[in-house]
Amino acid sequence: MNKPFERAATTFHLNGREEAPVLQPGQRLSEVLRETLGQRDVKIGCDAGDCGACTVLVDGAPVCACLTPAHQAMGRKIETVQGLNAHDPLAARLAQSFLDHGAAQCGICTPGMMVSAVALLREVPAPSEDQVKDALGGVLCRCTGYRKIIDAVMDAPAISEQAAGQVGEAIRHLDGADKVAAKVAYGDDVAPLGCLEVRVIRSPYARAAFEIGDLEAFARAAGFETVLTAADIAGQNSFGVIPGFEDQPVFAQDEARFRGEAVAALVGPREQLRLIDPGALPIRWTELPAAQDIDTAQSAEAAQLHEGRANNVMCGGFVTCGDPEAALARAHVTVEGRFQSGFVEHGYIEPEAGFAQMVNDRVEVHACTQAPVMDLEGLERILGLDRSRIRVIPTAVGGGFGAKLDLTVQPYLALAALKTGKPVRVCYSRTESMQSSTKRHPSDITLRIGADADGKICGFDFRGGFDTGAYASWGPTVANRVPVHASGPYSVADYIAQSTGIHTNNPPAGAFRGFGVPQSAIAQESLFDELAEELGLDALEFRITNALTNGAPTVCGQVFEQGVGVKACLEALRPAWISERAEAETFNATHKTRKRGVGVAAGWYGCGNTSLPNPSTIKSGIRPDGTLVLHQGAMDIGQGANTVITHLFATALGARADQIELVGADTDVTPDAGKTSASRQTFVSGNAARLSGEALRAAILERMNVAQDAALDFRAGAIHATDAAGAHVLDLASLDADDEGYVLRASETYDPPTKPLDTNGQGHPYAQFGYAAHLAVVEVDMALGTVTPVRFVAAHDVGKAVNPTLVEGQVHGGIAQGLGMALMEEYIPGRTENLHDYLIPTIGDIPPIETIIIEEPDAHGPYGAKGLGEHVLIPTAPALLNAIKHATGVRLYKVPAIPSAVHAALKGGAGA
Ligand code: FES
Ligand code: FES
Repeated sequence: MNKPFERAATTFHLNGREEAPVLQPGQRLSEVLRETLGQRDVKIGCDAGDCGACTVLVDGAPVCACLTPAHQAMGRKIETVQGLNAHDPLAARLAQSFLDHGAAQCGICTPGMMVSAVALLREVPAPSEDQVKDALGGVLCRCTGYRKIIDAVMDAPAISEQAAGQVGEAIRHLDGADKVAAKVAYGDDVAPLGCLEVRVIRSPYARAAFEIGDLEAFARAAGFETVLTAADIAGQNSFGVIPGFEDQPVFAQDEARFRGEAVAALVGPREQLRLIDPGALPIRWTELPAAQDIDTAQSAEAAQLHEGRANNVMCGGFVTCGDPEAALARAHVTVEGRFQSGFVEHGYIEPEAGFAQMVNDRVEVHACTQAPVMDLEGLERILGLDRSRIRVIPTAVGGGFGAKLDLTVQPYLALAALKTGKPVRVCYSRTESMQSSTKRHPSDITLRIGADADGKICGFDFRGGFDTGAYASWGPTVANRVPVHASGPYSVADYIAQSTGIHTNNPPAGAFRGFGVPQSAIAQESLFDELAEELGLDALEFRITNALTNGAPTVCGQVFEQGVGVKACLEALRPAWISERAEAETFNATHKTRKRGVGVAAGWYGCGNTSLPNPSTIKSGIRPDGTLVLHQGAMDIGQGANTVITHLFATALGARADQIELVGADTDVTPDAGKTSASRQTFVSGNAARLSGEALRAAILERMNVAQDAALDFRAGAIHATDAAGAHVLDLASLDADDEGYVLRASETYDPPTKPLDTNGQGHPYAQFGYAAHLAVVEVDMALGTVTPVRFVAAHDVGKAVNPTLVEGQVHGGIAQGLGMALMEEYIPGRTENLHDYLIPTIGDIPPIETIIIEEPDAHGPYGAKGLGEHVLIPTAPALLNAIKHATGVRLYKVPAIPSAVHAALKGGAGA
């Protein structure tokens, strides 16, 4: 980029062709590429130079297209990832390497990553890891934990041959080719060029009364199409995800309860909406005293956010067994502590976005979501329309992690399409996304644990307050889950755990990988280290002594006779634990300023809804031409559901995974596979896929009159079967096709067996748990307070690894998020509302990760498999905090442990 721009030029070269766009003053290159030239492989994650998703090459140099004025590109050569893939063999090889390594999960960061990597590889064909980290340091990924991206760029060994895709085989993501080719359409990629847009008007205050003046007149004068307010809602102006807690308005009326809450929306041309100054709108705001922490919200002076929720208490959860007070009284040692955590932002690179249109008097909503059928139900309530008049067709999802379970853009899109009758689109700015989306619950936990002289846990008393923000969202789920999980995966006979969700004037806290369990694990796993130290026991062996085993009751009185794999996870860490502790001792003997520490922690997570029905349905069919079709409605948000569900179906049917044609989620044509949350898709939808595969196979065998163990060979127009009696052929064209064109079909549902919890929280909340244990090695700069993770070893009991490459990818991504929560991430309304001030881990922050897969089969899991999505970050933060304590002798009681907090703790000699 040293060559001066030729301002007089009117054209540029884009991917080998000449373009001559008409520019508007101040237009960004990203805007011209995407919105004038339709080059939607250029992604927008922040529009501010922070995420790198928009990276393109300008005369061979990587730049953020969102920071580059379009006129500066005139006369230059612009290459996007699609152009590189088409014209540069090096890029095509890199795309294959990304695919082979599973380096694209949701895929939204992949264009920026690949463009940056091509620039590096052109200069340095065989880069070192540090060179890769330097070159890709400006591109953020929230899914992968970066390790597989590094491997892909360095061309490390990977999947070479594509296996059949039976359970247990590492195959490439079945939807990966489109991702590395940047052909996948996310929420902001589906609308036609030039269609109307929606801009949501939001409260600038945490709490404010407001009056909307003549917004219609303002809009008319400014040339907008229309406005939307609460008056446009024909149904109910409320939504929510838990029955009985639908308390969040689409548009606030009279009072806004958090900064960023929607009060109205403008619909109009993109260019005009961009110029709007929200301060110029006819809305009169009166700021009111706000409660922005749970102590203030529970004070006598605090305003009550919701009728019927006295003292701003939304709800609570409770589990008890045995006699915890008596046990604590007789314990040989007891330890206690107060642990706090802040809001954590999901930080997916794709902001909430979508498109809606009217089709034959029906409203059709295309948006990024984790829960299409829940979206349909929510829209039905808001729009006051029968569900037959609504269709939800999810786009690809550029990361979700829980926040895209709630309605976001969908109501505004649907209302605008219905009111104007025209296609409309919306994409939240990064700041809007961060202001209005749900967050991980801040927590304030006090915990007391005892142990007897033999090192067995003896009494456990947990009290947790959770800031659930202005509206309920998934707060009730967090309140219920935490007491069930707060013991960790250990035998605790005498136990009490109480949790309370408290409303504040903060953004709604909702679902975020773990539903409150990562917060409670910090308290429990930190105090387990303290107990071991008090008793003079090894911290890992102390955990192994107390680990749950087959046949031992959980704190809910649930007994699993099989499948409890936490001890195996902990034992798998023993070699690294011994060697890393020894190495740390050697290191610390020779280093004064930097100190090394090793920490360990375990975790567990119940897969699926807590004691509630949780069904998934998967449909399949065969067309006369022999095409095998799987209606797969389990949203793939990067975690790999499209691949894993297909693996399970193909294995049950006896086909190759790459023979299956997927029909994705669409409320018109794909049955409800439930929401992608709570680590349920591999377990629940996976079981439905297995059943569907088995049922389709049974139908084929019956039709062909062949043996149960017959080998099937699916070919064009025919199925060939071989059994002991010989070879058989079924001519598919000879069969009658049904309304959907299938000659054979199956549709099966699976709902995990659970039992309700009684008033003491005793029951069977989940049909299966997954287990994990992490070891973290850190170096702490004792002068600066900086913490540098240097290695992780992660052991995960997944029952059966359906696809080991995808398991590793989940583990890496979860560790990166756990690291962010532990060391750097805190969302503060009004202060960290962008990816410049809110820091998430970059490629330079993630050290090597060793993944150890433990397979303790689960009787309920498909082929023994367990869920994994949430488990992957639960032990990470406490393992890091325990490593910091080991390195420094100082315990941190609050996350994130940012350098200033660590520094203060080191100076004070006590936990921050
Ligand atoms: S969109 Fe350009 S850096 Fe984020
Ligand atoms: S794969 Fe990188 S953000 Fe999702």
